[in-house]
Amino acid sequence: MGLKGVVLAGGTGSRLAPLTRVTNKHLLPVYDQPMVYYPIRMLVEAGIRDIMVVTGGDGAGDFLKLLGNGEAFGLEQMQYGYQKGAGGIAEALGLTRYFVGDDDVVVVLGDNILEKPITDAVQSFREQGGGARVLLTEVHDPERFGVAEVDGGRITRIVEKPQEPRSNLAVIGVYMYDNDVFDIVADLEPSARGELEITDVNNAYLARGDLRHAVIDGWWTDAGTFESLHKATCLARALRGGEQAAS
Ligand code: DAU
Repeated sequence: MGLKGVVLAGGTGSRLAPLTRVTNKHLLPVYDQPMVYYPIRMLVEAGIRDIMVVTGGDGAGDFLKLLGNGEAFGLEQMQYGYQKGAGGIAEALGLTRYFVGDDDVVVVLGDNILEKPITDAVQSFREQGGGARVLLTEVHDPERFGVAEVDGGRITRIVEKPQEPRSNLAVIGVYMYDNDVFDIVADLEPSARGELEITDVNNAYLARGDLRHAVIDGWWTDAGTFESLHKATCLARALRGGEQAAS
């Protein structure tokens, strides 16, 4: 069974307005690179070379200009998908069904940045024999994320942006699924905010007893708010030794 990679770079980026009024959020700079470079490199470093970037909005054509055939990542080709509107992360994933074919898939949100490669997590997913795998990390502001409740080494529940989080373990935007995910997405109903929720997908795997998890090493951040975009830029700068380079 093969493994494909998907980067989700649609959505409206409304939390970053006015920066996102004339450009797609994932084309904004994070230190010295466009935001979308980070999730693409994450997949390539984990050995995944078959990648689709799903984007949307007016700036969608800019991704072609920026990424071309993936030369900057040593790839021979890059696939593109287009999401009309912003119907949710799971809706965007559903659009990749024909690209993924019969394979399994690693999904990365286009605004997620990690310090360390996901190579080991991908290897564990390959070895677990189907189902899903999510990655967790401790955060100080869990109410901004999908929050996992863990008991006895197993996730018991994931709640999307709980007002009163029962743990500080955020589900980060790196998800690994077997091919059943496309049937699960097809059965989803929109949430109260009108989106197909990736948390509902993960809870569907949980209900089947097919959800595994690991806590990541190193830092993680999203970059979808002014604070987190600034933090991502500082972390990326430190990671690339930029402090010395700049002085
Ligand atoms: O970053 C991790 C978090 O991402 C998770 O903990 C949450 O469970 C998950 O719902 C998500 O939360 P956000 O509220 O931060 O998601 P956001 O709407 O900012 O979307 C994150 C990325 O997903 C965005 O950079 C592009 C992609 N996306 C999003 C939507 C809503 C799409 O491609 N299409 C969409 O319609």
